[in-house]
Amino acid sequence: MLTERAKILISEHDLKSKIKEIANKISADYNGEEVLFVGILKGCIHFYSDLTREINLPLTMDFMAISSYGAGTSSSGEVKMLKDLDKSICGKNVIIVEDIIDSGNTLSYLKRLLSSRQPKSIKICTLLDKPSRRKVNLDPDYCCFTIPDEFVFGYGLDVDQKYRNLKDIYILAPEDYPKE
Ligand code: IMP
Ligand code: MG
Repeated sequence: MLTERAKILISEHDLKSKIKEIANKISADYNGEEVLFVGILKGCIHFYSDLTREINLPLTMDFMAISSYGAGTSSSGEVKMLKDLDKSICGKNVIIVEDIIDSGNTLSYLKRLLSSRQPKSIKICTLLDKPSRRKVNLDPDYCCFTIPDEFVFGYGLDVDQKYRNLKDIYILAPEDYPKE
């Protein structure tokens, strides 16, 4: 089993408590205003679900699907939109909810795209950040954990589309890296 060779980086318990802390911060910052939470599929699923259930604001939900990785563990640098939002975001407070920022290519593309649709405000909330891998200038407004340059999986993050259902976040053992 791949999980037996992998080390736990962040436990379910630590995920829950940090996410609650960030949710409280977001609720305080928006002070009763309505917010649209835009989840970036598929990696955001558990984070999105746990985060939004801790938010104390009137909120609406929408999702986008973006692809920037093949089966490998490094970004191709190319971003492709697989699913757009269902509705206009004009005049809305938008928070983009992402699993991880690596090179920053995906979110800088998305932020530019969504900013051009005239939202009232736009912010980024990420579960994980790997700042050492950044290729473009991009900082999240909310970040739960800053992590080292390791390939991680579980809690929404995949290895070649598998293991998204795990409750904790693991570091992939080098021998298990998918072939590029
Ligand atoms: P970026 O465009 O390079 O910032 O890549 C962001 C996307 O790459 C994330 O949304 C993830 O889907 C994927 N990704 C980056 N690092 C990892 C990782 O360590 N594990 C799993 N997926 C990752
Ligand atoms: Mg992703």
